[in-house]
Amino acid sequence: MSLSSRTFYLTTPIYYVNAVPHLGHAYTTLIADTMCRYRRLAGDRVHFLTGTDEHGDKIAQAAAKAGETPQAYADRIAGAFRDTWRRLGISNDDFLRTTEPRHQAIVQAILQKLHDAGEIYFGEYGGNYCYGCERFYTDKELVDGKCPDHQTPPTFIKEQNYFFRMSRHQEWLVQHIEAHPDFIRPERYRNEVLAFLRDPLEDLCISRPKSRLQWGIPLPFDESYVTYVWFDALINYVSALGLPRSEPFETFWPHAQHLIAKDILKPHGIYWPTMLKAAGLPLYRHLNVHGYWSLAGGKMSKSIGNVVEALALADKYGHDAFRYFLMREMTFGLDANFSEDAFVARLNADLANDLGNLVSRATTMMVNFAGSVVPGPGAPSVEESEVRAALEKARAEVDDAMEEFAFQRALIAIWEFVGAVNRYVDTTAPWVLAKDPAKRGRLDTVLYTLAEALRCLSVLLAAFLPKTTEQIREILGLGGFPIRLADLAWGAVKPGITVQKAPALFPRIETGNPLPLTPPLSPKGERMKVRGERQGEGARITIEEFSRIDLRVGEVVAAEKVEKAKRLLKLTVKVGAEVRTLVAGIAEYYAPADLIGKKVVVVANLEPATLMGMESDGMVLAASEGQDLALIVLDRDLPPGAKVK
Ligand code: MSP
Repeated sequence: MSLSSRTFYLTTPIYYVNAVPHLGHAYTTLIADTMCRYRRLAGDRVHFLTGTDEHGDKIAQAAAKAGETPQAYADRIAGAFRDTWRRLGISNDDFLRTTEPRHQAIVQAILQKLHDAGEIYFGEYGGNYCYGCERFYTDKELVDGKCPDHQTPPTFIKEQNYFFRMSRHQEWLVQHIEAHPDFIRPERYRNEVLAFLRDPLEDLCISRPKSRLQWGIPLPFDESYVTYVWFDALINYVSALGLPRSEPFETFWPHAQHLIAKDILKPHGIYWPTMLKAAGLPLYRHLNVHGYWSLAGGKMSKSIGNVVEALALADKYGHDAFRYFLMREMTFGLDANFSEDAFVARLNADLANDLGNLVSRATTMMVNFAGSVVPGPGAPSVEESEVRAALEKARAEVDDAMEEFAFQRALIAIWEFVGAVNRYVDTTAPWVLAKDPAKRGRLDTVLYTLAEALRCLSVLLAAFLPKTTEQIREILGLGGFPIRLADLAWGAVKPGITVQKAPALFPRIETGNPLPLTPPLSPKGERMKVRGERQGEGARITIEEFSRIDLRVGEVVAAEKVEKAKRLLKLTVKVGAEVRTLVAGIAEYYAPADLIGKKVVVVANLEPATLMGMESDGMVLAASEGQDLALIVLDRDLPPGAKVK
């Protein structure tokens, strides 16, 4: 599927102003930003909305606690959200606050319309109310009689209120979700909503008596009530555009997509579509739901006690590095752990090593071997075709991944291209070519290819790492020029442009505390006892330490004996899109022919080692006991490159 629609409207939740911006808010807003940037690069007309949710009990209580009026308090925290997004370079087109008159007017207009249409009635309701969630809970939803989110017992409240006839629309909603499989995605959340809809849906209480709560939008048909906060908040997605027939509404609403985390699935998956249906408004196109971040411990992370401190790491290590980590670490739809250790490990490995080194070595060679001027290329050979093929592959994969909000997959695809270009440098060895005047033509082709690869990389990265992209483009003399995905066509770099030597884009972070993967040695060379170690077992490592080892499924595509080394076999192993050479000490146990086609487990992020003059890029796992050795193979088929965890 391609990104075919030319208009795109994306919203984040509007965040409550009872807390300052934190990691969770930042994640949603950053991925929304990346998605919108990507669609703009594709040439689409994009509208990106975020904002703040400022009414309700929670806010009134937080303001009282801070000794401020609700409005002054909301102004202050809404300002903190706005400033944070500006600081992080978020490219939102609008920022809506629910206390703005433009919003209030539309909430009231929609309420009136629903009331006139008989979708709202007045009745009495007694039920278990959680003040934290600002909603009633059914007995079935309570866990041990408590609110599952707040772990507090609800308060029984009986009062007269206005109700929205949500139950009327239950059957229609089930049919809509079934007929539109990607209405709520990923699928697990669609299933969750459908499971919820298996039980009868109750009508939704949409008012609060002013005697209990003042801080809300008055009902247009009864001044003694204010609007329930969710009914008020959800309408922001429409009120930011204006009413039907206004230009922004007609342009963008038909393309609306919401982005939320799983915590607010029910209001978005059930209340909102039924509200829209009842109000005679078209439904949103997709509800995109991501998982939850939690904080993991770790050596450095002791200092991160909460999600606010986690967000502060964006300033400590750089905004692009932060964006990269969040998008690379979380599989869209699933939960993930945040730890400073894991962040620093990724920064060092992927950003400083893979990307930073590539840019720095490529530009240094252009400066040193071509006087900073990109030379004209000669005829391409197989190596150049491989780089171009890797680019095409990455481009297609990124397009595909972005269609599904699969940011992680998109970054993996871009890093495969980075890997391909790094290998290109290794195989073509320009520093060798530079020593031989007869190879000048070949050197020029290689340097041109590198300049073009960096330019294309800057386009691929633009939505994900905007600052880094600008830096790379400055180096290539392209700073300030607009970027479009269409520029990924090969050959746009014109020979003759001047290139600068790149500064370190991502300096390595020295933790001073390399994670010991093997137990430390005592000064006498004995193995030191590690805390928690049991007799007869290896030293315990943490999940973080283990997760630093990148184990992958590899398929052996060729194997041969190594001359003069009776224990070694040279294996050619396919790991994902890469083909690696591994030298393994298994010649006494396996004949080369028996290995072809075997799916083995490879340590993929090991520093390359030289054995008998051959570079071995990784290690194959095997078990051994006495004289026996057995390779670890898969007992079910999986593609090469699959992660072993
Ligand atoms: N005000 C409501 C939303 C109304 S939308 C019409 C609200 N606000 S909130 O401040 O609690 O924000 C919830 C959202 O913040 C989540 O859906 C998610 O986007 C983000 N996150 C907050 N904590 C999070 C994590 N720990 N992990 C991931 N995202 C989380 O609910």
